[in-house]
Amino acid sequence: MFNGRVLIITGAGVSAESGIPTFRGKDGYWRNLDPTKLATPEAFARDPNLVWDWYRERRQRVRQAQPNSGHQAIAKLAVQAGEFLLVTQNVDDLYLRAGLPADKMVQIHGDIFMTRCSRCEFRRYEHEHDVGSLPKCPECGALMRPGVVWFGEQLDAAKIEIVENFMRGGDCKLVIVAGTTALFGYIIGWALRARGQTGQLIEVNPEETSLSQFATKSYREPAGTVLPRLVNELLSNINRVRRSIDCLQVAFRRPCDSSSGAG
Ligand code: APR
Repeated sequence: MFNGRVLIITGAGVSAESGIPTFRGKDGYWRNLDPTKLATPEAFARDPNLVWDWYRERRQRVRQAQPNSGHQAIAKLAVQAGEFLLVTQNVDDLYLRAGLPADKMVQIHGDIFMTRCSRCEFRRYEHEHDVGSLPKCPECGALMRPGVVWFGEQLDAAKIEIVENFMRGGDCKLVIVAGTTALFGYIIGWALRARGQTGQLIEVNPEETSLSQFATKSYREPAGTVLPRLVNELLSNINRVRRSIDCLQVAFRRPCDSSSGAG
């Protein structure tokens, strides 16, 4: 097993090649509306039908989408790296469908299929189909809302704790930030803290972002192209190191084995 610690932070750009529009890209507009203005508590209070329509359409698009080579590469690394965490701002389930173990991922902005009560703690998962056009809570009768984090809302403390707990485990040899404009302070903060003094910070994004100035290397290409290449290179280096370690162990063990045999 590779013992290096790896943190990957991703955003909407990784799912773009699966046909899911990014938030700030030109295809992100929905019925001529800016998604960054729809994903707010104010928009929901003003017009819950409109916001629900948008989420239902997005849910349907996610259900029909397939994981792409970027998701698959991240899932492959997650399985083979020693200590690994993916922090994603994406609310879709494409990493899980690509085979990434659920305990190696935090969806820091929530899960698009979760529906929760806007008043009480009731929540339910609507993965297969949506329940009602303007759903009401079966417990308290209040309006149900998408269970995601909107602009201006607090992140889930339990999810922050998973990230912080991973950080406490030590610096990461490798931090990859892919497909995000990295507009939120916590995204840049986690990336910089995780790499510590010596870790590599790799950015994968066709565009320059506010994170670029801190990156040890930036790939200005789509995630679906770069990530499989990067992960394969990384895993072949790791396997080479592992084989060298195995050879050294065998070489050192030989004299001991023969002496114990002779004794
Ligand atoms: N590969 C890699 N990066 C890409 C690709 C691609 N194929 N296509 C687009 N990108 C990049 C864009 O250059 C952009 O920097 O992905 C980024 C997408 O940015 P945003 O739409 O701002 O998405 P994200 O950074 O995930 O937004 C963060 O803001 O709206 C909220 O909660 C929402 O989770 C979202 C958060």
